[in-house]
Amino acid sequence: MADNQKNSIQSDESLAILKRVLSENWQNYTWQYAQAFVLLVAVSASTAFPAWAIYNIVEDVFMRQDLDVAYSISFAIFLAFTVRGLATYGYMYVLGKISNNMVARYQKRVYAHLLNLGVGFYKENRSAYLVGQINQNIAGMREMLNQFITVFARDLLTLIAMIAVMVIRDPFMSLSSLMVLPIIYLVMSRYVRKVRRVAREAVNINARVTSSIVETTQGIEVVKSFTMEEALNGNMEKMTKEVETQANHIVRLNAKTKPPTEILAGLAIAGVVAYGGYRVAELGHSPGGLFSFLVAAMLAYDPARKLASFRVSFESSLVNARMLYELLDTPERQADKKDAKSLELSKGKIDFKDITFSYNGDENIRVLRDVSIVARAGKTTALVGPSGGGKSTLIALLQRFHDINKGSIEIDGQNIADVTAKSLRSNIAYVSQQPMLFEGTIMDNIRYGRPGADDEAVFDAAKKAQAHGFILDQSHGYDTSVAELGGNLSGGQRQRISIARAILRDAPILILDEATSALDNESEKLVQKALEQLMKGRTTIVVAHRLSTIRHADNIVVIDEGRVVEQGSHDKLVKKKTGIYSKLYAIGTATAELKDAEI
Ligand SMILES: Nc1ncnc2c1ncn2[C@@H]1O[C@H](COP(=O)(O)OP(=O)(O)OP(=O)(O)O)[C@@H](O)[C@H]1O
Ligand SMILES: [Mg+2]
Repeated sequence: MADNQKNSIQSDESLAILKRVLSENWQNYTWQYAQAFVLLVAVSASTAFPAWAIYNIVEDVFMRQDLDVAYSISFAIFLAFTVRGLATYGYMYVLGKISNNMVARYQKRVYAHLLNLGVGFYKENRSAYLVGQINQNIAGMREMLNQFITVFARDLLTLIAMIAVMVIRDPFMSLSSLMVLPIIYLVMSRYVRKVRRVAREAVNINARVTSSIVETTQGIEVVKSFTMEEALNGNMEKMTKEVETQANHIVRLNAKTKPPTEILAGLAIAGVVAYGGYRVAELGHSPGGLFSFLVAAMLAYDPARKLASFRVSFESSLVNARMLYELLDTPERQADKKDAKSLELSKGKIDFKDITFSYNGDENIRVLRDVSIVARAGKTTALVGPSGGGKSTLIALLQRFHDINKGSIEIDGQNIADVTAKSLRSNIAYVSQQPMLFEGTIMDNIRYGRPGADDEAVFDAAKKAQAHGFILDQSHGYDTSVAELGGNLSGGQRQRISIARAILRDAPILILDEATSALDNESEKLVQKALEQLMKGRTTIVVAHRLSTIRHADNIVVIDEGRVVEQGSHDKLVKKKTGIYSKLYAIGTATAELKDAEI
């Protein structure tokens, strides 16, 4: 009983997904669907026609030897097949185009949605895994649409046409032989639930395999250096074994639906032959009716069988649709408030007020506690402190990548939670701790800083970031595609491209998170100079491990374990002998001297 209930709830759920897919797409294709429907009716009518005509072949041609009827039926049958061929071409083309278009629309929608999801979402979901899952689910969606539109629509209409012939030829026998249909339907329901569970597991394990492959290729140097091959191979073997088992499970479930459908259909047709034969032989009924009925029943059997197993295979594609919707329904985090205004920047003073923050709302692991910092307008504020202290987190909060638990950040007196994310971020130029390059050319990658900037401006920014020289050395200069380069750019070169991007942005607020950490001393000095030029008059927040790069900052804030422990100018902090800064500085100068000595 409980099982039954669950089953019926889940069928409702499947129906709801299907309804949603149709209702979201239906309006866009009304005209094409109308065309396809007409073509499908032509296909099913022309499929049913020979079964219908058998009656006259037996009655008029065989029994009464009427040659004229034979000729006209032969012509009509040829015509029916021709119509069927042309109409099949038409509906396959129309429906195929609809489903391709729908898939493209889902792809665009998923991507647009991914862009709107908060940074937190990506921290919780491994990207390669996400990609694997999305790919499979989109493919599943395509399969579902194809199945639903072609198999369901075509076979259902053909079945209806055949049943029409059967009912016209022999209503009583139709009724008794069609009794098997509901039985087949019930038998199939048993498999549906199992398929649903197995299909979801299969998507997940497949996505793990993809993500493992992607991560291995991305980290191939680490893999080789730590000789991780054997361990990774072992993991992969386990996973592929699991994939195989799941795939076998699905194959078995699909195959299991065959014997009951075949046996039940066989029973129905055997019954028709026995009972119909008895009526012709013993009761003197016309053989034309029996033949016509038999042919219709046999032709009905194929679409009926497909429709019966359709539910099972359809269910597994429906799982993909459901998983895709789960992603599309993930709420956009840090979305703008309804009445969000544009950030109006005047001077650019940034005020971090009593900020307490923990990732994923986990109160026990506070990353920041009661942090208050003022970044004065047009001045440079440096954040320093031991690794893991919370510097990058503060910078992420300033860009509203996460929601703050307690406290607020104000820019020129406006709470960043109340302004639009777009206006907030367009006032910020950010160089992240890990430099990122995107699909496209080097030119594109710098131009993301300010779309619409002319080539001269891009060259200028690249020159300031000390990137112009090495970019010209690439095979196609600025037009070299990043994909072509693969891993051929050094860490420092990537960093300089992302600095050029920030320079080009020309925003009033500048954030540099370890922007020059991967550069050698010489280029760091040059880039540093360009950055100092850039910092003039802008509110700048810099994070740096190398203290030499921030000694001229207007205010240095030392952050340790999520708290502000010291702040002040370089000279003031160095004098505080017991402070963290003076200790860090002692090590910092030591390394700086070492480096200078090496040169
Ligand atoms: N997405 C995340 N989810 C959960 N915890 C995180 C996340 N990102 C960072 N943390 C934790 O927050 C703390 C602060 O990290 P953060 O990156 O802000 O440090 P940091 O001061 O920038 O360190 P570093 O100098 O090494 O870059 C660390 O303990 C880190 O483990
Ligand atoms: Mg950091």
